[in-house]
Amino acid sequence: MNEYKERVVYQIYPSSFKDSNNDGWGDIQGIISKLDYLKDLGIGIIWLSPIYDSPMDDMGYDISNYKQINPRFGTMADFDKLMVEAKKRDILIVMDLVINHTSTEHAWFKEAIKDIPNNKYRDYYIIKDGKGDKVPNNWDSAFTGTCWKKIDGLDNKYYMHLYCDTQADLNYHNENVILEIEDIMKFWLDKGVYGFRCDVINNIFKTSLQDDSIFKLYNKGEKFYANQKGMFDILKRFRTEVLDKYNCFLVGETGALTPEIGREFLSSRALDMFFEFDHIYADKMSKIPVIKSDFQAKKLVEPIFKWQEAVPWIANYLENHDQLRSVSRYGNEKEFYKETAKMLCLFLLSLKGTPFIYQGEEIGMTNVSDLKLEEVNDCASLSTIKTVQKLLPVSEEKAWKMINETICRDHARTPMQWDDSTNAGFNEGAKTWLRMNNNFDKINVKNEIEDEDSILNFYKRMIKFRNESDVLKYGSFERQIVSNKICSFYRTYKGRRFLIILNFSDDIETYWLKDKLSLVISTYKEDFHLNALPPHFGGIFEVI
Ligand code: NOJ
Repeated sequence: MNEYKERVVYQIYPSSFKDSNNDGWGDIQGIISKLDYLKDLGIGIIWLSPIYDSPMDDMGYDISNYKQINPRFGTMADFDKLMVEAKKRDILIVMDLVINHTSTEHAWFKEAIKDIPNNKYRDYYIIKDGKGDKVPNNWDSAFTGTCWKKIDGLDNKYYMHLYCDTQADLNYHNENVILEIEDIMKFWLDKGVYGFRCDVINNIFKTSLQDDSIFKLYNKGEKFYANQKGMFDILKRFRTEVLDKYNCFLVGETGALTPEIGREFLSSRALDMFFEFDHIYADKMSKIPVIKSDFQAKKLVEPIFKWQEAVPWIANYLENHDQLRSVSRYGNEKEFYKETAKMLCLFLLSLKGTPFIYQGEEIGMTNVSDLKLEEVNDCASLSTIKTVQKLLPVSEEKAWKMINETICRDHARTPMQWDDSTNAGFNEGAKTWLRMNNNFDKINVKNEIEDEDSILNFYKRMIKFRNESDVLKYGSFERQIVSNKICSFYRTYKGRRFLIILNFSDDIETYWLKDKLSLVISTYKEDFHLNALPPHFGGIFEVI
């Protein structure tokens, strides 16, 4: 069945969604209590960011036990209840599969570093001898700095961590590792989950460990581990050995892609869809992402259109737990806040592919205007800030400003804003694990339910429209205009043709009519004319 092509996905970041027991952390019971909200919004699939046991150094992307629930989030009984309650509402649940690495707290890793003969677990990880007193190669961690850490108590041995230093990379040259992962997938699929979002999946197989060019600024090593044949072979094996036996799908998180590789993911069935990362540099430098640049609509839309043309299906997103908030990035948050958020909603939901909405996006949650370095939890920001200070070199204050404006993931991770009571109704007043965004008195679900013209009510309309529209679900894509002001594209299915027009500018723009159009849905209530499209307007027209 093709539910994953027909439904809208909503990503829940469990720590920040809803805290049912007032301990400062969101939890599974909290999620259950909000299923009716999600049903009403029109959501058909939930992607749960990791809820497994974890020391939370990288907020659950460092798993210490794949078959247990993190007690902060509840129990396995809570999870089973979530499955039952979601099913009652015809909502499918997708888990996060984080298999490039485990936490260094995982039992496999603890065994791996024991100094015993024929240690079976040593080879579960990428553990190598140092070169003299140096690390085994010159590769970087994605969070900057070397990707190697010396193991205490072992003679000159290092483990690889492509992410933070408590996330040890697994060794996919080892058959036992592959079998363990297959077993984990079956465990959750047997519980009825509808598939997995696969974390940094195209990095799992390291073909060789040789040094990369010393001239590369960062991501050294990538060409030896991104998109390797070995990774395709493993994913294809997962498909035939495990996934084909269930009704489920895989969406991959895949940086460093080309259209050819993207197509290979789909044609080989290694993945059912993937997230591309080309459009996230619309307001920062792609070569040095900690340097902010002015937002340009073309830099957002052109890569999105490129991918629409390149592959038959894709996972579309503007936000997730790793990105800054879209309404604060891709428009005019100050003067045209509502208009920007609604236009981005219409854009996301009218593209070809599966739309992924991140919690809070549907109410226009923003970046935190006064986030301070002392308040930051995000391990990537904390590690990158040191590198920026060292390399550039700049003061801590300047380095923090750069990180804050470009890559700090905490902007998207503040607790969900349900109402204007204490802690925005996220909980009943206990200190939250990450600070609240102070604007919750204005931006919250309760206010937006009451306001007919709210961002939330527009999301509801747009999701309903998409859920019922064959043109938006199955139609082909054809670009029309890409500029820093107007962008437009067609979607066509069985003789029906929609034209989607977006105005990214703060001005009234003229759209020169070629087609005869009739308005289907738009972000503005007032009347407007195509010769005078209001600022940050979005509309779907039927070509007649
Ligand atoms: C991608 C996840 O989305 C991110 O949050 C995490 O830090 C890295 N992968 C490492 O697992």
